[in-house]
Amino acid sequence: MKLPRHLSIKSGHLHIGGYDSVALAQRYGTPLYVTSEDRICEIFRDYQKALTSRYPHVQVLYAAKANGNLAILRALAQAGAGADVFSSGELHLALDAGMLAGKLLFNGSSKSPDDLRLALEKNVKISVDSIDELHQLDEVARSAGTVAAIAFRVNPALDVPTHPKIATGLASSKFGIPYRQIPAAYKGALDCKHVRPVGLHCHIGSQILDTEPFARAADMMVRIAKNLTDMGVSLEFIDLGGGLGIPYHHDTDPAPTPEDYAATVVPIFRAGVEACGIMPELWIEPGRSLVADSTILLTRVNSTKTTHKRFANVDAGFNLLIRPAMYDAYHEVLVSNKAGATAESEYTVTGPICESGDILAADRNLPELTAGDLIAVLDTGAYGYAMSSQYNSRPRCPELIIKGTQVALMRRGETLDDITGTMQRPPWQR
Ligand code: LLP
Repeated sequence: MKLPRHLSIKSGHLHIGGYDSVALAQRYGTPLYVTSEDRICEIFRDYQKALTSRYPHVQVLYAAKANGNLAILRALAQAGAGADVFSSGELHLALDAGMLAGKLLFNGSSKSPDDLRLALEKNVKISVDSIDELHQLDEVARSAGTVAAIAFRVNPALDVPTHPKIATGLASSKFGIPYRQIPAAYKGALDCKHVRPVGLHCHIGSQILDTEPFARAADMMVRIAKNLTDMGVSLEFIDLGGGLGIPYHHDTDPAPTPEDYAATVVPIFRAGVEACGIMPELWIEPGRSLVADSTILLTRVNSTKTTHKRFANVDAGFNLLIRPAMYDAYHEVLVSNKAGATAESEYTVTGPICESGDILAADRNLPELTAGDLIAVLDTGAYGYAMSSQYNSRPRCPELIIKGTQVALMRRGETLDDITGTMQRPPWQR
């Protein structure tokens, strides 16, 4: 199986960075998420280089929802990233991590008055998702005695090749304002005293392995930009969103790189803004492509059994990685302690959750497994821990981060107290 640069097989064990995953699991226990910081920074630099070599004004905003660990946000902040934040919580995290307010965009299709107030207080630009929200924001900004700098989120009505649950720019999606209504929305914003339209935003979906849909979106965005510029809007940035996919099937999926993305999108963007006579910043919001392959989830085999098929029952389930259950997502699995061994039988790797859908990997050819073997689920850095839960009253596992020759916990494992700690006894049960 093809492996990214930070993963390797040495003496039959899977290594991440310089570390033997088997030794890490022994030392920190399982389940365990392990992330390579160097890998994330490498891909961030690839994005920067690919974009800035083609257009001078670029800002990469990491989509914090993909993995909100402060250590990851901090590493990206130090590398120069901003962030797409989708909640007040993500906004606080991005600022705590040292990201500059000017490099953040507050996104969201259902922002509360408190969200809007916080974004204004922190001087963060806001992507407005509806005309109703525009008027609410105008009022919130008026009472705060300020002017909100905004973009509108465009719904481009683009069908994209991905799982329907993660296509976000379909005509039927909940996100954004239909592209035909965008000029009227900006006209409305220009008429608001406490709002200043300065940007334009879209995001067409996630896990897109073909660069062509991004070209179509960029084309639509610069056409809209022309219209807006003619109306008198001065655009300081155009944000094309995130969405570049990763090859979850290592040997067969296409593997578009930041370079491929930039080579497709930037010429369209550049020609479009030149035609408008403007030089706005080009913003993008990658999440998955920055962090997904940096991380493995290590999980121990509790038992095996053969019924009508063979099962390996492991200690991580959809409480820790919901993508297979939620999107029928495929993640490669390797047996960390038998990484060189030949595959002998077909196993379905199932978690400990009381649900039939708690399957991490179905029908995989793996070496003969016994209790105690260690399985690595690959490409779990995006929407893995970030979407975890305590379902079945399972405390979440720890997260480790590796940088060069150093390793450290970036989140401790939860204990039962973390589950019961927020619960309260009603007075009538005292
Ligand atoms: N910007 C906006 C406005 C978004 O809604 C998203 C993702 C991104 C950027 C980042 O997209 P990315 O580069 O990561 O594709 N939980 C799903 C993915 C949901 C994506 C939601 N929006 C999954 O596990 O596949």
